[in-house]
Amino acid sequence: MKKIVLDVDTGVDDAQAIMIALSSPNVEILGITCCHGNTPLDNVLKNTLRVLKVCNRLDIPVYKGASRPILVKKRNAGDYHGKDGLGDVPESDATGLELLQKKKAPNAMIKYAQQNPGEVILVATGPLTNLAVAVQLDPSFPKKLKALYIMGGNTDSRGNTTACGEFNFVADPEAAYIVLDRYNCPTYIAAWEFSCRSSLPWSFCDEWLAQKTAKAEFMRKISTLSMKKARSPEYQKEITAGKGFNPCDVFALAAAVDDGFITESEEVAVTVELNGTHTRGMMVLDYMELLKKDHKVFIMKTMDLEKLKKMLMKAVM
Ligand code: BDR
Repeated sequence: MKKIVLDVDTGVDDAQAIMIALSSPNVEILGITCCHGNTPLDNVLKNTLRVLKVCNRLDIPVYKGASRPILVKKRNAGDYHGKDGLGDVPESDATGLELLQKKKAPNAMIKYAQQNPGEVILVATGPLTNLAVAVQLDPSFPKKLKALYIMGGNTDSRGNTTACGEFNFVADPEAAYIVLDRYNCPTYIAAWEFSCRSSLPWSFCDEWLAQKTAKAEFMRKISTLSMKKARSPEYQKEITAGKGFNPCDVFALAAAVDDGFITESEEVAVTVELNGTHTRGMMVLDYMELLKKDHKVFIMKTMDLEKLKKMLMKAVM
């Protein structure tokens, strides 16, 4: 059984990732920690509980984390995910925040790693603020993790938020820097360019959202806005292979739950640019090993699309 802690900024693709994790028989979700990002933290908390409620899994502990980045101004991705982060289709009987755990997100991550040394897989699909705070609180924490999976950063200076920067890293560049510098556990990165090469065909998306289940109905509701955006020429510009939908966060989660999902990756030392006028928040890949870093990460290159489709389908059944 894989013991997973999810750190999310629940948005539509985070919701998709959570639902895959919930439907994977080999996964035990120890807890879900929340961070600002796609939408303000209060929405992230509500959205996370809403997903768990739809899946009948409110037994999973949810933790409140950082409401803002370390240094930069807060930003969100309401244009794409909706003002509420889940496509602006509110639910009248949404679960209240009284279900949240008292412990804070970074402390919860540390606790899970201490209780299960060498077993916890941390999957981060939002800005990395909670992870950065956790390693400041306990520098020995990353060594206790089995692995870290991140959706974020870029490999080819292809931006989606600034000209050269991917949303999760630009939303908290200092946090991304700290995490890439100090997490010395096996680390796997689903960067923006990888997600752009790995889109889901629209024919699959239509079939997926047409399933006659309550979870599919929920998925259809929350995905309508972002899928409409994603189909527009402006967003299709980002898709570099074929045409389709880019469920970014799902890639990091899928790689964590299925060791065979990633079919090719490359190992390289990375860091984050903190100063450039146009490049602040951009991930830097040190192919020539000039930074002399001991720790290298795995950059995902290719994946198994058929496995991804199966996981997504199962998530709504
Ligand atoms: C990332 O930004 C967010 O909008 C998505 O949820 C994903 O985590 C892609 O750059």
